Amino acid sequence: MRGESGDVRITAEVASTHTPVLFRAAVERAAELLKAGEVVALPTETVYGLAANALDPSAISRIYAAKNRPATNPLIVHVASGELAASCVSEWPSAADRLAASFWPGPLTLVVPKADRIPASITAGGPTVAIRWPSHPFMQAVIRACGFPLAAPSANRANQISPTTAQHVLRQLGDRIPLVVDGGPCQVGIESTVVDVTSEPAHLLRPGMIHEESLAAVLGEIRVSRRTDGVLRSPGQFQKHYAPKAKLIVRSWRNAAEYQAVVASLVGAPERLHVLAHDRIPPEPGAAQISVIPHEPDAYARAMYAEWHRCDECGAECILVEAVPPTPAWRAIADRLQRAATGG
Ligand code: TXA
Ligand code: MG
Repeated sequence: MRGESGDVRITAEVASTHTPVLFRAAVERAAELLKAGEVVALPTETVYGLAANALDPSAISRIYAAKNRPATNPLIVHVASGELAASCVSEWPSAADRLAASFWPGPLTLVVPKADRIPASITAGGPTVAIRWPSHPFMQAVIRACGFPLAAPSANRANQISPTTAQHVLRQLGDRIPLVVDGGPCQVGIESTVVDVTSEPAHLLRPGMIHEESLAAVLGEIRVSRRTDGVLRSPGQFQKHYAPKAKLIVRSWRNAAEYQAVVASLVGAPERLHVLAHDRIPPEPGAAQISVIPHEPDAYARAMYAEWHRCDECGAECILVEAVPPTPAWRAIADRLQRAATGG
Protein backbone atom coordinates (compact mmCIF):
# COMPACT_ATOMS: atom_id res chain seq x y z
CA MET A 1 0.00 0.00 0.00
CA ARG A 2 1.24 3.49 -0.80
CA GLY A 3 1.98 5.51 2.34
CA GLU A 4 2.29 9.23 2.90
CA SER A 5 6.03 9.01 3.09
CA GLY A 6 6.59 6.40 0.42
CA ASP A 7 5.76 2.74 0.27
CA VAL A 8 4.79 1.39 3.64
CA ARG A 9 4.95 -2.39 3.77
CA ILE A 10 2.16 -3.22 6.16
CA THR A 11 3.22 -5.78 8.72
CA ALA A 12 0.76 -4.84 11.49
CA GLU A 13 -2.03 -7.21 12.45
CA VAL A 14 -5.48 -5.58 12.07
CA ALA A 15 -8.22 -6.51 14.55
CA SER A 16 -11.88 -5.65 13.88
CA THR A 17 -14.36 -4.95 16.64
CA HIS A 18 -17.77 -4.91 14.98
CA THR A 19 -19.22 -8.02 16.62
CA PRO A 20 -19.16 -8.85 20.34
CA VAL A 21 -16.88 -11.85 19.69
CA LEU A 22 -14.42 -9.82 17.61
CA PHE A 23 -14.56 -6.99 20.15
CA ARG A 24 -13.63 -9.31 23.03
CA ALA A 25 -10.89 -11.01 21.02
CA ALA A 26 -9.41 -7.62 20.06
CA VAL A 27 -9.48 -6.46 23.70
CA GLU A 28 -7.61 -9.60 24.75
CA ARG A 29 -5.04 -9.32 21.96
CA ALA A 30 -4.39 -5.62 22.61
CA ALA A 31 -4.08 -6.19 26.38
CA GLU A 32 -1.72 -9.12 25.83
CA LEU A 33 0.63 -7.00 23.69
CA LEU A 34 0.39 -4.00 26.03
CA LYS A 35 1.22 -6.18 29.06
CA ALA A 36 4.28 -7.41 27.13
CA GLY A 37 5.49 -3.79 26.75
CA GLU A 38 4.40 -3.32 23.11
CA VAL A 39 2.73 -0.31 21.47
CA VAL A 40 -0.63 -0.75 19.72
CA ALA A 41 -2.95 1.61 17.85
CA LEU A 42 -6.43 1.88 19.38
CA PRO A 43 -9.59 3.79 18.48
CA THR A 44 -10.78 6.59 20.76
CA GLU A 45 -13.72 8.95 20.24
CA THR A 46 -11.38 11.82 19.23
CA VAL A 47 -8.63 10.32 17.03
CA TYR A 48 -6.77 6.99 17.00
CA GLY A 49 -4.14 6.71 19.74
CA LEU A 50 -0.78 4.93 19.85
CA ALA A 51 -0.97 3.25 23.26
CA ALA A 52 1.57 1.78 25.67
CA ASN A 53 1.78 1.04 29.40
CA ALA A 54 2.10 4.49 31.02
CA LEU A 55 4.04 3.03 33.95
CA ASP A 56 6.73 1.32 31.84
CA PRO A 57 9.52 3.63 30.60
CA SER A 58 10.73 1.19 27.93
CA ALA A 59 7.21 0.83 26.48
CA ILE A 60 6.94 4.65 26.44
CA SER A 61 10.23 4.96 24.58
CA ARG A 62 8.70 2.76 21.86
CA ILE A 63 5.90 5.31 21.36
CA TYR A 64 8.42 8.11 20.79
CA ALA A 65 10.44 5.90 18.43
CA ALA A 66 7.44 4.74 16.35
CA LYS A 67 6.21 8.31 15.89
CA ASN A 68 9.63 10.02 15.60
CA ARG A 69 8.27 12.30 18.29
CA PRO A 70 10.65 14.70 20.05
CA ALA A 71 11.12 13.75 23.72
CA THR A 72 10.23 17.32 24.66
CA ASN A 73 6.54 16.83 23.79
CA PRO A 74 4.73 15.11 26.70
CA LEU A 75 2.08 12.37 26.35
CA ILE A 76 -1.53 12.10 27.54
CA VAL A 77 -2.28 9.31 30.06
CA HIS A 78 -5.63 7.56 29.54
CA VAL A 79 -7.64 6.10 32.43
CA ALA A 80 -11.02 4.38 32.78
CA SER A 81 -11.95 5.16 36.39
CA GLY A 82 -11.61 7.87 39.02
CA GLU A 83 -9.34 5.58 41.08
CA LEU A 84 -6.93 5.08 38.19
CA ALA A 85 -6.87 8.85 37.57
CA ALA A 86 -6.17 9.46 41.28
CA SER A 87 -3.25 7.00 41.17
CA CYS A 88 -1.53 9.11 38.48
CA VAL A 89 -1.68 12.48 40.26
CA SER A 90 -0.23 14.01 43.43
CA GLU A 91 -2.98 16.59 43.75
CA TRP A 92 -6.49 16.87 42.36
CA PRO A 93 -7.52 20.54 42.24
CA SER A 94 -11.23 21.31 42.71
CA ALA A 95 -11.38 22.65 39.14
CA ALA A 96 -10.34 19.16 37.95
CA ASP A 97 -13.12 17.65 40.02
CA ARG A 98 -15.75 19.91 38.52
CA LEU A 99 -14.57 19.47 34.94
CA ALA A 100 -14.28 15.68 35.32
CA ALA A 101 -17.80 15.50 36.80
CA SER A 102 -19.17 17.43 33.80
CA PHE A 103 -17.16 16.04 30.87
CA TRP A 104 -15.62 12.63 31.74
CA PRO A 105 -15.64 10.19 30.14
CA GLY A 106 -15.12 12.30 27.02
CA PRO A 107 -12.86 14.46 24.84
CA LEU A 108 -11.32 16.50 27.67
CA THR A 109 -7.71 16.27 28.96
CA LEU A 110 -6.75 17.74 32.35
CA VAL A 111 -3.19 18.82 33.20
CA VAL A 112 -2.55 18.24 36.92
CA PRO A 113 0.45 17.69 39.26
CA LYS A 114 1.90 14.23 38.56
CA ALA A 115 2.33 11.29 40.96
CA ASP A 116 5.85 9.92 41.49
CA ARG A 117 4.97 6.69 39.71
CA ILE A 118 4.42 8.49 36.38
CA PRO A 119 7.76 8.25 34.51
CA ALA A 120 9.51 11.48 33.55
CA SER A 121 9.47 10.41 29.90
CA ILE A 122 5.66 10.78 29.84
CA THR A 123 5.78 14.36 31.08
CA ALA A 124 8.94 15.44 29.22
CA GLY A 125 10.56 15.83 32.61
CA GLY A 126 7.92 18.26 33.88
CA PRO A 127 5.98 18.23 37.18
CA THR A 128 2.53 17.90 35.57
CA VAL A 129 0.73 15.09 33.77
CA ALA A 130 -2.11 15.26 31.23
CA ILE A 131 -4.96 12.83 32.04
CA ARG A 132 -8.00 11.81 29.97
CA TRP A 133 -10.84 9.35 30.57
CA PRO A 134 -12.03 8.56 27.04
CA SER A 135 -15.63 7.60 26.34
CA HIS A 136 -14.80 5.06 23.62
CA PRO A 137 -15.94 1.61 24.82
CA PHE A 138 -13.01 -0.20 23.23
CA MET A 139 -10.38 2.03 24.83
CA GLN A 140 -12.15 1.68 28.19
CA ALA A 141 -12.28 -2.11 27.89
CA VAL A 142 -8.55 -2.34 27.09
CA ILE A 143 -7.58 -0.11 30.02
CA ARG A 144 -9.68 -2.29 32.35
CA ALA A 145 -8.20 -5.49 30.93
CA CYS A 146 -4.66 -4.12 31.43
CA GLY A 147 -5.26 -2.69 34.91
CA PHE A 148 -2.73 0.09 34.20
CA PRO A 149 -3.12 3.53 32.57
CA LEU A 150 -2.25 3.89 28.89
CA ALA A 151 -0.08 6.65 27.48
CA ALA A 152 -1.37 7.48 24.01
CA PRO A 153 -0.53 10.30 21.63
CA SER A 154 -2.36 10.48 18.32
CA ALA A 155 -1.30 7.51 16.17
CA ASN A 156 0.40 9.49 13.42
CA ARG A 157 4.05 10.06 12.62
CA ALA A 158 5.31 13.35 14.04
CA ASN A 159 4.33 16.33 11.84
CA GLN A 160 1.54 14.45 10.04
CA ILE A 161 -2.25 14.54 10.36
CA SER A 162 -3.97 12.71 13.22
CA PRO A 163 -5.70 9.51 12.07
CA THR A 164 -9.48 9.14 12.29
CA THR A 165 -9.66 5.66 10.73
CA ALA A 166 -7.60 2.47 11.06
CA GLN A 167 -6.55 2.90 7.40
CA HIS A 168 -4.99 6.29 8.21
CA VAL A 169 -2.96 4.60 10.98
CA LEU A 170 -1.86 1.76 8.70
CA ARG A 171 -0.59 4.17 6.06
CA GLN A 172 1.60 5.99 8.58
CA LEU A 173 2.60 3.29 11.07
CA GLY A 174 1.62 -0.04 9.49
CA ASP A 175 5.26 -1.09 9.18
CA ARG A 176 6.26 -0.04 12.70
CA ILE A 177 3.76 -1.50 15.17
CA PRO A 178 2.38 -5.01 15.79
CA LEU A 179 -1.38 -4.26 15.99
CA VAL A 180 -3.97 -1.75 14.76
CA VAL A 181 -7.47 -2.16 16.21
CA ASP A 182 -10.16 -1.02 13.76
CA GLY A 183 -13.04 0.66 15.60
CA GLY A 184 -14.40 2.47 12.53
CA PRO A 185 -14.28 6.25 11.98
CA CYS A 186 -13.83 8.39 15.12
CA GLN A 187 -16.95 10.11 16.45
CA VAL A 188 -15.39 13.48 17.35
CA GLY A 189 -12.66 13.58 14.71
CA ILE A 190 -10.25 16.11 16.26
CA GLU A 191 -8.05 15.90 19.35
CA SER A 192 -9.35 16.50 22.89
CA THR A 193 -9.63 19.88 24.59
CA VAL A 194 -6.59 20.29 26.91
CA VAL A 195 -7.03 22.35 30.11
CA ASP A 196 -4.31 23.13 32.66
CA VAL A 197 -5.92 23.20 36.11
CA THR A 198 -2.68 23.68 38.07
CA SER A 199 -3.23 27.44 38.14
CA GLU A 200 -6.23 29.63 38.92
CA PRO A 201 -7.96 30.46 36.74
CA ALA A 202 -7.50 27.32 34.65
CA HIS A 203 -5.87 27.68 31.23
CA LEU A 204 -7.18 26.33 27.95
CA LEU A 205 -4.08 24.93 26.21
CA ARG A 206 -5.65 23.26 23.17
CA PRO A 207 -9.18 24.01 21.95
CA GLY A 208 -11.37 21.01 21.19
CA MET A 209 -15.02 20.19 20.68
CA ILE A 210 -15.71 20.84 24.39
CA HIS A 211 -15.34 24.56 23.93
CA GLU A 212 -14.36 27.53 26.04
CA GLU A 213 -17.90 28.61 26.86
CA SER A 214 -18.82 25.13 28.18
CA LEU A 215 -15.67 25.12 30.34
CA ALA A 216 -16.37 28.63 31.62
CA ALA A 217 -19.95 27.60 32.48
CA VAL A 218 -18.50 24.98 34.86
CA LEU A 219 -15.48 26.90 36.20
CA GLY A 220 -16.75 30.47 36.15
CA GLU A 221 -13.57 31.65 34.47
CA ILE A 222 -11.02 30.22 32.05
CA ARG A 223 -8.01 31.85 30.49
CA VAL A 224 -7.03 31.08 26.92
CA SER A 225 -3.31 30.65 26.30
CA ARG A 226 -2.68 32.33 22.99
CA ARG A 227 0.15 30.94 20.98
CA THR A 228 1.53 34.46 20.83
CA ASP A 229 1.85 34.62 24.65
CA GLY A 230 5.51 33.73 24.38
CA VAL A 231 5.03 31.30 27.26
CA LEU A 232 5.45 27.65 26.36
CA ARG A 233 2.68 26.15 28.46
CA SER A 234 2.08 23.16 26.25
CA PRO A 235 4.77 22.07 23.78
CA GLY A 236 2.12 20.82 21.37
CA GLN A 237 0.79 24.34 20.95
CA PHE A 238 3.72 25.18 18.76
CA GLN A 239 3.97 21.99 16.77
CA LYS A 240 3.10 21.68 13.14
CA HIS A 241 1.45 18.33 13.77
CA TYR A 242 -1.89 19.09 12.22
CA ALA A 243 -0.76 19.88 8.68
CA PRO A 244 -1.35 17.91 5.49
CA LYS A 245 1.47 17.56 2.97
CA ALA A 246 -0.34 19.79 0.49
CA LYS A 247 -0.20 23.52 1.05
CA LEU A 248 -3.41 24.50 2.87
CA ILE A 249 -4.96 27.91 2.23
CA VAL A 250 -8.05 29.30 3.98
CA ARG A 251 -10.13 31.91 2.12
CA SER A 252 -13.73 33.07 1.99
CA TRP A 253 -15.82 34.05 -1.02
CA ARG A 254 -19.35 35.39 -1.34
CA ASN A 255 -20.13 34.34 -4.88
CA ALA A 256 -18.85 32.56 -7.96
CA ALA A 257 -16.88 35.57 -9.20
CA GLU A 258 -15.03 35.94 -5.90
CA TYR A 259 -14.33 32.21 -5.84
CA GLN A 260 -12.88 32.37 -9.35
CA ALA A 261 -10.72 35.33 -8.32
CA VAL A 262 -9.39 33.37 -5.33
CA VAL A 263 -8.57 30.37 -7.53
CA ALA A 264 -6.88 32.63 -10.11
CA SER A 265 -4.70 34.17 -7.39
CA LEU A 266 -3.26 30.77 -6.41
CA VAL A 267 -0.05 29.64 -8.00
CA GLY A 268 0.17 26.04 -9.15
CA ALA A 269 -1.68 23.68 -11.44
CA PRO A 270 -5.48 23.73 -11.09
CA GLU A 271 -5.59 19.96 -11.61
CA ARG A 272 -3.77 19.57 -8.31
CA LEU A 273 -6.02 22.02 -6.45
CA HIS A 274 -8.62 20.53 -4.09
CA VAL A 275 -11.36 22.68 -2.60
CA LEU A 276 -13.15 21.99 0.71
CA ALA A 277 -16.34 24.04 0.93
CA HIS A 278 -19.16 23.92 3.48
CA ASP A 279 -21.36 26.96 2.86
CA ARG A 280 -20.93 28.73 -0.50
CA ILE A 281 -20.39 25.78 -2.76
CA PRO A 282 -18.49 26.80 -5.92
CA PRO A 283 -20.72 26.40 -8.99
CA GLU A 284 -17.85 25.56 -11.32
CA PRO A 285 -14.81 23.44 -10.68
CA GLY A 286 -11.72 25.53 -11.49
CA ALA A 287 -10.08 22.77 -9.44
CA ALA A 288 -9.46 19.04 -9.60
CA GLN A 289 -12.03 18.33 -6.93
CA ILE A 290 -14.53 20.13 -4.77
CA SER A 291 -15.68 18.38 -1.59
CA VAL A 292 -18.64 19.57 0.41
CA ILE A 293 -18.24 19.19 4.17
CA PRO A 294 -21.37 19.51 6.36
CA HIS A 295 -22.12 23.06 7.52
CA GLU A 296 -22.38 22.10 11.18
CA PRO A 297 -19.33 22.06 13.49
CA ASP A 298 -19.64 18.54 14.96
CA ALA A 299 -20.10 16.93 11.55
CA TYR A 300 -17.39 19.15 10.04
CA ALA A 301 -14.87 18.14 12.74
CA ARG A 302 -15.70 14.47 12.19
CA ALA A 303 -14.97 14.79 8.44
CA MET A 304 -12.10 17.29 8.35
CA TYR A 305 -8.97 15.16 8.86
CA ALA A 306 -10.33 12.40 6.61
CA GLU A 307 -10.65 15.02 3.84
CA TRP A 308 -7.08 16.21 4.39
CA HIS A 309 -5.81 12.62 4.35
CA ARG A 310 -7.74 12.00 1.12
CA CYS A 311 -6.31 15.11 -0.56
CA ASP A 312 -2.78 13.97 0.35
CA GLU A 313 -3.47 10.48 -1.00
CA CYS A 314 -4.68 11.98 -4.29
CA GLY A 315 -1.45 13.95 -4.60
CA ALA A 316 -3.06 17.37 -4.10
CA GLU A 317 -0.61 20.26 -4.27
CA CYS A 318 -2.91 22.81 -2.69
CA ILE A 319 -6.03 22.52 -0.52
CA LEU A 320 -8.24 25.59 -0.64
CA VAL A 321 -10.51 25.59 2.43
CA GLU A 322 -13.53 27.86 2.75
CA ALA A 323 -13.12 29.87 5.98
CA VAL A 324 -15.33 28.76 8.89
CA PRO A 325 -17.51 31.07 11.02
CA PRO A 326 -15.76 32.99 13.85
CA THR A 327 -18.06 31.55 16.53
CA PRO A 328 -17.19 29.49 19.68
CA ALA A 329 -18.57 26.23 18.27
CA TRP A 330 -16.13 26.47 15.34
CA ARG A 331 -13.07 27.61 17.35
CA ALA A 332 -11.29 24.24 17.58
CA ILE A 333 -11.77 23.70 13.83
CA ALA A 334 -10.49 27.22 13.09
CA ASP A 335 -7.47 26.48 15.35
CA ARG A 336 -6.54 23.35 13.37
CA LEU A 337 -7.04 25.19 10.07
CA GLN A 338 -4.87 28.06 11.24
CA ARG A 339 -2.06 25.74 12.36
CA ALA A 340 -2.20 23.74 9.14
CA ALA A 341 -2.26 26.91 7.06
CA THR A 342 0.59 28.68 8.76
CA GLY A 343 2.55 25.58 9.66
CA GLY A 344 2.95 27.07 13.14
O1 TXA B 1 -7.72 13.37 21.76
C1 TXA B 1 -6.58 13.26 22.16
O2 TXA B 1 -6.12 13.99 23.06
C2 TXA B 1 -5.70 12.17 21.51
C3 TXA B 1 -6.28 10.81 21.87
C4 TXA B 1 -5.42 9.68 21.39
O3 TXA B 1 -6.51 10.75 23.25
N1 TXA B 1 -4.35 12.32 21.92
C5 TXA B 1 -3.56 13.34 21.51
O4 TXA B 1 -2.26 13.25 21.98
O5 TXA B 1 -3.94 14.25 20.80
P1 TXA B 1 -1.07 14.14 21.41
O6 TXA B 1 0.15 13.59 22.04
O7 TXA B 1 -1.12 14.17 19.94
O8 TXA B 1 -1.33 15.56 22.01
C6 TXA B 1 -1.14 15.78 23.40
C7 TXA B 1 -1.13 17.26 23.68
C8 TXA B 1 0.13 17.90 23.14
O9 TXA B 1 -0.22 19.18 22.65
C9 TXA B 1 1.01 18.00 24.39
O10 TXA B 1 1.96 19.03 24.29
C10 TXA B 1 -0.03 18.26 25.47
O11 TXA B 1 -1.14 17.46 25.10
N2 TXA B 1 0.43 17.83 26.80
C11 TXA B 1 0.65 16.57 27.23
N3 TXA B 1 1.09 16.57 28.50
C12 TXA B 1 1.14 17.87 28.90
C13 TXA B 1 1.51 18.53 30.10
N4 TXA B 1 1.94 17.86 31.18
N5 TXA B 1 1.43 19.89 30.14
C14 TXA B 1 1.00 20.58 29.06
N6 TXA B 1 0.64 20.02 27.89
C15 TXA B 1 0.70 18.68 27.80
MG1 MG C 1 -0.82 14.56 17.98
